[in-house]
Amino acid sequence: DNQPTTATIQADKPGPVYHKEVFTQFAEHLGHGIYGGLWVGKGSKIPNTNGFRNDVVIALRNLSVPVIRWPGGCFADEYNWREGIGPQKNRPVKINTHWGGVTEPNTVGTHEFFELIRQVGAEAYVAGNVGNGTAREMAEWVEYMTSPAGSLADERARNGHKEPWRVAYFGVGNELWGCGGNMRAEFAADETRRYATFIKAPAGTKILKVAAGANVDDYNWTETMMRVAAPQLDGLSLHYYVHPAGGWPPRAPAVDFDESGWADALAGARRMDELITKHTAIMDKYDPDKRVFLAVDEWGAWYAQDPGTHPGFLRQQNTLRDALIASVHLDIFARHADRVRMTAIAQMVNVLQAMILTDGSKMVLTPTYHVFEMYKPWQDATVLPIEIKSPWYSKDQFTMPAVSGSAVRGKDGKVHVALSNLDPNQANTVTINLGGVNASSVTGRVLTASAINTHNTFDAPEVVRPVPFSGATVQGGQLSVTLPAKSVVVLELQ
Ligand code: AHR
Repeated sequence: DNQPTTATIQADKPGPVYHKEVFTQFAEHLGHGIYGGLWVGKGSKIPNTNGFRNDVVIALRNLSVPVIRWPGGCFADEYNWREGIGPQKNRPVKINTHWGGVTEPNTVGTHEFFELIRQVGAEAYVAGNVGNGTAREMAEWVEYMTSPAGSLADERARNGHKEPWRVAYFGVGNELWGCGGNMRAEFAADETRRYATFIKAPAGTKILKVAAGANVDDYNWTETMMRVAAPQLDGLSLHYYVHPAGGWPPRAPAVDFDESGWADALAGARRMDELITKHTAIMDKYDPDKRVFLAVDEWGAWYAQDPGTHPGFLRQQNTLRDALIASVHLDIFARHADRVRMTAIAQMVNVLQAMILTDGSKMVLTPTYHVFEMYKPWQDATVLPIEIKSPWYSKDQFTMPAVSGSAVRGKDGKVHVALSNLDPNQANTVTINLGGVNASSVTGRVLTASAINTHNTFDAPEVVRPVPFSGATVQGGQLSVTLPAKSVVVLELQ
């Protein structure tokens, strides 16, 4: 069967910018997120540049990763930056108490992180330690990274980097309601004011300060942070993960799921719209001019980790379902682009909903990677209003509109349209009335697969990948697209 959907795009009513920082990536000292996945060391047989594996860096460059958030996550609120600078042989080996109880060699520290940033061509989002570090330690770290002069700048130079680095974003702790210190909202807001006071950018530079925001629907947290600390902040974060099969702790399998698991996860992804709407309404009360941005700096699917993997490493396979979880989120962020000016999927390599999986010298790009690549024209594009009237897709207790979408006018001046068909059983023909677009041809690519849980493996790395799409036509101000079941389609109008 083929379901009909109607939609409108108003290119003559351009909306806000879709900030490229929505495509920020998160790299935590967790499992093989850093060690093995990014860092292999200069002496490794795996081809690398200054210790970072070339295959992964090239893949990340191809995504135009705008920003990388580091070193955590929960890891950040126990991190002592001084242990990660200076000669490698002097760096203490610690226990990673959050993630697997394994040793943390401190081999990747501040200098190595900025080398990664340089190679990828990204900006830095450094998360500070509010949990068990002092305001002085945080201030000194910021000075060490950014100051052009003084004894900390001299120390940085002695450690191999004379020029100050640019810290575009600085996180004032992470999840202060949980692993960052189990604080109550009032206390966390006061601590945020205090710590933020001492994050100082050298003259002529700017560091955007992002406070640790709410968990999921903790609206009291957002209310309190905004009421108490908003003047000290540039951004406030929000963390929300998709946990099918009943929430926390994560128990749903990443691969061996049925259609109910598919629908559960996609309904979970759609929930991001409601969460942002409600957090934004609170922020609007205190900040009607939308000066403080909402940074959804942890999102994505969190399943039971893959069988046989190290406990606490959060390693999970990534299927076609994850591709649609990603596209649904990216469409939701378009609807809220005026407030949501940064987001970070968790996480970049080998952890949770990753772009890239590695095993020794092997590397594979996930379906999620391909969605991020297909949405590249959204980076710093202008959002175009899109309204979609779609039939419902239902399975068991999960019901949702079958079609998700977003549209932008790219920096290339062209109109780009993304459409996802969440229905795994039926194709869907979408008829879109185009306002203010003078297009005579359309090209595109489609990402789909034979089964809802199809995924790429090291042995078969290209099973799920975008291929040219011929199911769209444009004529007389109307775009007609036949979306295959369970697919993501991205189009370019000419
Ligand atoms: O991304 C994994 C963990 O999830 C992060 O360390 C933490 O911030 C969140 O709870």
